Amino acid sequence: PLDTTIPDPALIVLIGAAGSGKSTWARTWPSTQVLELDQFRAMVSDCAGDQSATLAAATVLHTALEARLARKKTTVIDATNTEAHVRAGLLDIARSYGVPAVAFLVSTPADVCVARQTGRSPARAVPEDVVRRQHAETIAAFPHLRAEGFAHVVLADRVHRLELLLRRAGD
Ligand code: CTP
Ligand code: MG
Repeated sequence: PLDTTIPDPALIVLIGAAGSGKSTWARTWPSTQVLELDQFRAMVSDCAGDQSATLAAATVLHTALEARLARKKTTVIDATNTEAHVRAGLLDIARSYGVPAVAFLVSTPADVCVARQTGRSPARAVPEDVVRRQHAETIAAFPHLRAEGFAHVVLADRVHRLELLLRRAGD
C-alpha cells in the first residue's frame, strides 16, 4: 500500500514536469522551508530560466540544504527532480544527516503541463519535447522510488482528492 505519511523533519523532494504544479504545491509549506531551483538559478545568473546556470545553482542549493538538514529543518526541494541521478544527490545529503526523504509526485497529465507553457514568457517556457520527456520520467520513476531510498512516496493528486473529500465531508 502507498504510505502517505510525511514525517517531521523530512526532506521532501517534489518530482514533476515543468508546468505540473510543483511550485503551487510548494506554496502549501512555509516559504522558508522551500528551496526552489529557479530561484537559485536567478541568484547566480539573474535569470531563472538560464539552463547554463543549473550546475552552479544546484551546488548552492545543496549547500543550503545541508545547512538546513544539519539543523533538522524540514525542507522541500522545488525542482523537476525527474532524473534518478539528481534524486540520488539529494538522497545522499538526507542520509548523511539522518533525515528521512519523501518523494512527492506531481504527475499532472503531459497535455496539461504542455498547455501551461504557452502562457509563459519565452525565457520561462519549456519546450514541448522536454516537458513530455520529464512527464514520462516522472511516471517511470514511480515504482522505483522506495528502492532509491525514499522512506515515503506521496502522490499529489491523491492529496488533492483527499482534501476535496474532507472539504465535502465538512460541508
Ligand atoms: N496551476 C493550476 N492548477 C493547479 C496547479 C497549477 O492552474 N492545480 C497553474 C499555475 O497557476 C501555473 C501553472 O499551472 O500557472 C504551472 O504551475 P506551477 O506550480 O508553476 O508549475 P511548476 O511545476 O512549478 O512548473 P516549473 O517546473 O516550470 O516551475
Ligand atoms: Mg515551479
